[in-house]
Amino acid sequence: MSDADAALTIAQAMDRAVDLAALGPAHGPNPRVGCVILNADGAVLGEGWHRGAGTAHAEVAAIADARARGTDITGGTAVVTLEPCSHTGRTGPCVDALTEAGVAAVTYAVADPGQASSGGADVLTSRGIPAIHAPHEGATALTHRWLTAMRAGRPYVIAKWAATLDGRMAAADGTSFWITGPQAREHAHAVRAQVDAIAVGTGTVLADDPQLSARPGGEESEHQPLRVVIGRTDTAGRRVWRDLHALAVASHDPRDTLAALWEREVRTVVVEGGPTVLSAFLREGLVDEVNAYIAPALLGAGPSVVEGLGIETMADALRGQDVNFQLLGADILVTAHLSRGF
Ligand SMILES: NC(=O)c1ccc[n+]([C@@H]2O[C@H](COP(=O)([O-])OP(=O)(O)OC[C@H]3O[C@@H](n4cnc5c(N)ncnc54)[C@H](OP(=O)(O)O)[C@@H]3O)[C@@H](O)[C@H]2O)c1
Repeated sequence: MSDADAALTIAQAMDRAVDLAALGPAHGPNPRVGCVILNADGAVLGEGWHRGAGTAHAEVAAIADARARGTDITGGTAVVTLEPCSHTGRTGPCVDALTEAGVAAVTYAVADPGQASSGGADVLTSRGIPAIHAPHEGATALTHRWLTAMRAGRPYVIAKWAATLDGRMAAADGTSFWITGPQAREHAHAVRAQVDAIAVGTGTVLADDPQLSARPGGEESEHQPLRVVIGRTDTAGRRVWRDLHALAVASHDPRDTLAALWEREVRTVVVEGGPTVLSAFLREGLVDEVNAYIAPALLGAGPSVVEGLGIETMADALRGQDVNFQLLGADILVTAHLSRGF
């Protein structure tokens, strides 16, 4: 028996489903989901993952895989990272696909918070197919951004900046190229390639004329996030407008930006500055995650990353949770979730 044919426990199958889910795209309106279908002996009958909006959901992909292998999944157990959906979106309800395929039981790791799509476990149970909720850290981590967005009814917001040790985002003359080194910039491009949108204010467009494209490894990635410019000043002719994949939001209220993005099915956005726009999002408690690239440099003057948050005393400081750091060349990336952001 090869490793691939080895019998799996439900927990092992969930680990495998999480690995499969990770093969799907991090961007787009749908979460990453994986599914493994086992027979009563724990043999894998089929497996699949969701490849992005408009394509088969993981359960349907796993059923199709089982059929392609010529295996009969009647009486099998579907182990899936997200509660099977019960609604018709771009594709049909997964609960129906599982029922029609004759699956006898379902184990899922993350409950679906979507208003239209949730309730799949109850539907299955009412049909005599027990649906067991077995939380899994990896599955939760993989869907964290999507879950946060669905619960909040707005995109998941990552505030990203590059700053010096003394917290400056630019020098006194407005120059900010380059605070950090190539490895930090490369990392930021890789992050861009995994989100739906990148937003900056008109101040940054006028000062830096950024392309706002994802170029990991120096090449434009296949997926390009929507470029978003926030503010009322006309920035026509700047590089960000070189094609139609850009959006202007002529409002100073970050909620208007997030509403416009939500309408366009944006579920994750990186707000890349400048300090005015970052401060506005932070002030309104609309930042879920911070990605701060810190360079071992001092400027002593120039705009600070954030100002005017209305915080007067240490007890009210915005504090990060789940803090991580990574050395990128001479720079440090600090990532954290914000306690008051969600
Ligand atoms: N180190 C970094 O990571 C980084 C990143 C980006 C920028 N920068 C630097 O930041 C500097 C630009 O700073 P900035 O603050 O002018 O840029 P910004 O935040 O990109 O743009 C500010 C503009 O956004 C509009 N805006 C949107 N929401 C607003 C709100 N709630 N309140 C007020 N205005 C709002 C206003 O423009 P309207 O008047 O048009 O409405 C405002 O002038 C440049 O030196 C740039 O190099 C550094």
